[in-house]
Amino acid sequence: MSVSHSPAWLQLENHYLAEIKRTSLHQLFQQDDRRFERFSLQKGDYLLDFSKHRMTCQTLQHLLSLVEQQGLEQWISKLFSGDHINSSENRAALHTALRAPADRVTVVDNQLISQEIQENLDHMERVVKRIHTGQWRGYSGKAITDVVNIGVGGSDLGPLMACHALEEFRLEEAKNLRLHFVSSIDGSQLAEKLKHLSQETTLFILSSKSFTTIDTLSNAEAAKRWLAEKISSERILLNQHFIGCSANADKMTEMGFCKDNQLLFWDWVGGRYSLWSVIGLPIALLLGMGGFRQLLAGGHWMDNHFRDEPFDQNIPVMMALMGIWSSNFLGVKGHAVLPYDGRLKFLPNYLSQLEMESNGKSVNRNGQQVDYETCPILWGEVGSNAQHAFYQLLHQGTQPVSCDFIAPVIRYQQDQAEGTQGQLQAQQQLTLANCLAQSRALMLGDHAIADQEREGRSNDQHYEGNQCSSTFLMKELTPFSLGSLIAAYEHKVFVQSVVWEINPFDQWGVELGKQIAKETYNAIVSGQNRFDDSSTQGLLEFVRSYSSDRSEP
Ligand code: F6P
Repeated sequence: MSVSHSPAWLQLENHYLAEIKRTSLHQLFQQDDRRFERFSLQKGDYLLDFSKHRMTCQTLQHLLSLVEQQGLEQWISKLFSGDHINSSENRAALHTALRAPADRVTVVDNQLISQEIQENLDHMERVVKRIHTGQWRGYSGKAITDVVNIGVGGSDLGPLMACHALEEFRLEEAKNLRLHFVSSIDGSQLAEKLKHLSQETTLFILSSKSFTTIDTLSNAEAAKRWLAEKISSERILLNQHFIGCSANADKMTEMGFCKDNQLLFWDWVGGRYSLWSVIGLPIALLLGMGGFRQLLAGGHWMDNHFRDEPFDQNIPVMMALMGIWSSNFLGVKGHAVLPYDGRLKFLPNYLSQLEMESNGKSVNRNGQQVDYETCPILWGEVGSNAQHAFYQLLHQGTQPVSCDFIAPVIRYQQDQAEGTQGQLQAQQQLTLANCLAQSRALMLGDHAIADQEREGRSNDQHYEGNQCSSTFLMKELTPFSLGSLIAAYEHKVFVQSVVWEINPFDQWGVELGKQIAKETYNAIVSGQNRFDDSSTQGLLEFVRSYSSDRSEP
């Protein structure tokens, strides 16, 4: 039986029709001045306010019955104990083990993995130290000044997002080390970087769980050719200018990477869950291993919270339930992630992979077509910038959209002079004011302004409000709090997958695109194949008509 025909689901549908459909957020807040108290959680240095969702205590009770009915407790225990919950690939999904303390014993498939995890962290630490101390030298004997991470998807977005967010926590030993990220298959990002880099002092991290991703391999090939302009020995080129981070040791060996330059993780870590593994090397290079371990500790804090707190006190569970309520009962199809902090610029991109690649599925764990909505379209931008871009649609458009507002409260930059520091604090207050104001405006619409002012407004100015949002505040943005925030979203995704009965750890849809791209590439280079659809064929012919020009000098 589909979950959409289950007692808890039907109860929610009936409840929506009877109690919520005709009730606005404005009314809900008027009826109950203790909404914030009832619908917010303060845990550690984090606050989740989910009171700005169109729901009541009764709604929450029904949602909690839904997760109970779906066996969430058992699923959480399967997640943490390494059961093969990634059923289509017959694997565990044990990213939580990567952030557990060193003395935590974890076994997967009868193998003690905790020790291996620590050994790999130690290996990573040796690499980080060698680079920081200038002992890792390029072919001409000079220390490394630039590290380029070549990867895509989970092998790019996590390190990119975290390095951008945590730049202020740069370790003294890394103060002269420049970190770069290259992902796009077209080679444009790499070419632009290479213009400013020197072969003598550049190290490439080839970051790929599979070590077979064509985007990454083609950029690696371009990097090799660039290095080969100066380095004649392939062995020196690879040993001194490349590190591999992957779960595929055989492929790294086959490509000529020596053991010392192979940083390993495991197939039971999904690509989009891999920043906690050696894929986080750029983060460790920026923060040092101490800082990287803080990130892990923050993730682990959230793991404990998620596993041990009752569901009605549980941040990720509440985040998930608000999403389920919005998507499956209120008809919300878009979800905006709006960090009010420029340092979290890449968080929406990171979360769009985490959520949409995990739960963007229409088939359940048993291979049956689902008859309910799963993951909404997730996008976002730094909130204050988005206010001047796409918020108009959130405010007055025709789409119901849910939003996550995210902000640190304290902003303090150690290395700033006092005057600048004061200005930074003032701007932080402005930022927070905007963050709080926008969720209030979305909730109340015209009701946010005084009655007499509202009366004089034209239809163009009419503002309905009633857009739901959650707000996640943290004391400050640190490696620890970033770790907790990411882990909270990971668990949110997991809880939703349990309700929707889907496997969040595979991504078969992406594979078909890769296969077709291969055939299309062959068609472009061979100039022969034909496609049985006129659109692809027409596009191909246009491409071919110019391809011959390219070979002209
Ligand atoms: O194509 C999707 C994907 O498989 C993601 O899941 C993954 O993060 C990305 O490609 C990169 O894969 P890899 O790390 O194996 O290069």
